Amino acid sequence: MASSPDRIVANRLVALSGGEAVRAVGRVTLVGAGPGDPDLLTIKALKALQAADVLVHDGLVSAEILDLAPQARRIDVAKRKSRHTLPQDDINQLLVALAREGLEVVRLKGGDPFLFGRGGEELSACREAGIACTVVPGVTAALAASAGAGAPLTHRGSAQAVTFVTGHAAHGEPDLDWAALARPNQTVVVYMGVSTAGFIAQRLTAAGRAGATPALVVENASRADERRILTTLAGLASAAEGLKGPALLMVGEAMAMADIQTPGDAATVAVFEVQNVSSGQ
Ligand SMILES: C[S@@+](CC[C@H](N)C(=O)[O-])C[C@H]1O[C@@H](n2cnc3c(N)ncnc32)[C@H](O)[C@@H]1O
Repeated sequence: MASSPDRIVANRLVALSGGEAVRAVGRVTLVGAGPGDPDLLTIKALKALQAADVLVHDGLVSAEILDLAPQARRIDVAKRKSRHTLPQDDINQLLVALAREGLEVVRLKGGDPFLFGRGGEELSACREAGIACTVVPGVTAALAASAGAGAPLTHRGSAQAVTFVTGHAAHGEPDLDWAALARPNQTVVVYMGVSTAGFIAQRLTAAGRAGATPALVVENASRADERRILTTLAGLASAAEGLKGPALLMVGEAMAMADIQTPGDAATVAVFEVQNVSSGQ
């Protein structure tokens, strides 16, 4: 090995150029960690975790998933309203810098990296820096919430379309196409909408969506402490009050199919509630 001009050091290809060892540039993989349940990770995501030198992760990634990569150094760049650790630009630069150190960098994000995950910005930063960057998709929260509740996002006869929107805009309330979202027979899934639930319900109702439209709020989807509240558009704001964990607001006729029975599994601590189902417009 020592006589070879190229040698592998700690899994890293080091080229010898004019007697100087030059560390090969590493790469970045944007990995969707799914909604929390480690069983919802893809096999490709698991392989990426197992090959990582460093995990750059946010606050929505569960400890069980981080533990699947015990060999990797962890960097928590969690962004929460009250604990804004690193601005996005700094995260982008961090990914580039780590890859330039020759590391196998996994940027681990809750759900899917390209669904309200700012994965596009991180991919662009890597591309601009000439760093190889690939994306491993993840199960987005809406899919897990819908599957867990048995409430399909599309359903023949009652939900011909599904739209994912954000309830949070950089400078306050979201500016959405309320008229389009208010049409019946479609499901509207609101991410990051807990604090703006009242505003969203008011806008949808003002644009013509019936207050009696079924609505499902799912907190901590796929986790042991998952909580579902079946309500109506009129009851959305009160259903969202006091939620602490990540939650989705799902509005649409097909949400009436949600399973709100307490499961028989005694280990499950989920809470299932029905609120205001009879309230009208
Ligand atoms: C910044 S977005 C990230 C979305 C993520 N990329 C995805 O694909 O699920 C954060 C929002 O996703 C939703 N969310 C993420 N994980 C969730 C979960 N386990 N249960 C319910 N909602 C979740 C919440 O609306 C939360 O405010």
